[in-house]
Amino acid sequence: MNRLSPSILAADFWRLGEQIEQARQGGAQYLHFDVMDGLFVPSISFGMPVLESIRKKTDLVLDVHLMIEKPERYIETFAQAGADIINFHLEATEHPEEVIKMIRDAGKKAAITIKPATKASEVAPYLKLVDMILVMTVEPGFGGQKLIPSCLDKVAEIRSMANEAGLTLDIEVDGGITLENVHQATEAGANVIVAGSAVFKGDVKANVEAFQKKWAK
Ligand code: DX5
Ligand code: ZN
Repeated sequence: MNRLSPSILAADFWRLGEQIEQARQGGAQYLHFDVMDGLFVPSISFGMPVLESIRKKTDLVLDVHLMIEKPERYIETFAQAGADIINFHLEATEHPEEVIKMIRDAGKKAAITIKPATKASEVAPYLKLVDMILVMTVEPGFGGQKLIPSCLDKVAEIRSMANEAGLTLDIEVDGGITLENVHQATEAGANVIVAGSAVFKGDVKANVEAFQKKWAK
């Protein structure tokens, strides 16, 4: 079953609670939370206090994407702040297995994320250890960019590696996903879809509904 994970990076922060509620009413089950540290990526976004406030008010699955150096420093903090899924970048740590263990020990779902230049084969050793792989379809750091089509080949590669190993792995895509190109991502084998601008620009509820319709037929 495909799921939409609206990225609040594209929300209007003055109306954040209202827009999250509209996304939920439209049928979203996940909410994507982009954490940027100004080091791993050039920009800075938001962190634990914002996550805590959202956690208190919603039962949506909070899908936290850590774009931070040495994520091992913050796994426990984000787990306590209310994350359900913690995505960390393979490029950001020298100890991916330990980070996965920290996430699991905190009782959360673990996901490895890869940038456009990182090969699909790099995640092969970890497929059995994680719940999800997040394949970036843009260079991480900013919302509103254009999807890099070659990244979808990596989705297909990871899906076939998982199938061969008999694993029911979630594969998430993030960056530049629109109503027009989302079918390319799902056809490649992605089943968790992040969308920021395509959800939060305009009528949030209607945008979420339009995504759900894409895979209802
Ligand atoms: C980029 C973030 C994405 C971004 C997606 O670094 O990881 O989650 O918010 O936004 P759109 O859908 O606008 O590309
Ligand atoms: Zn993201």
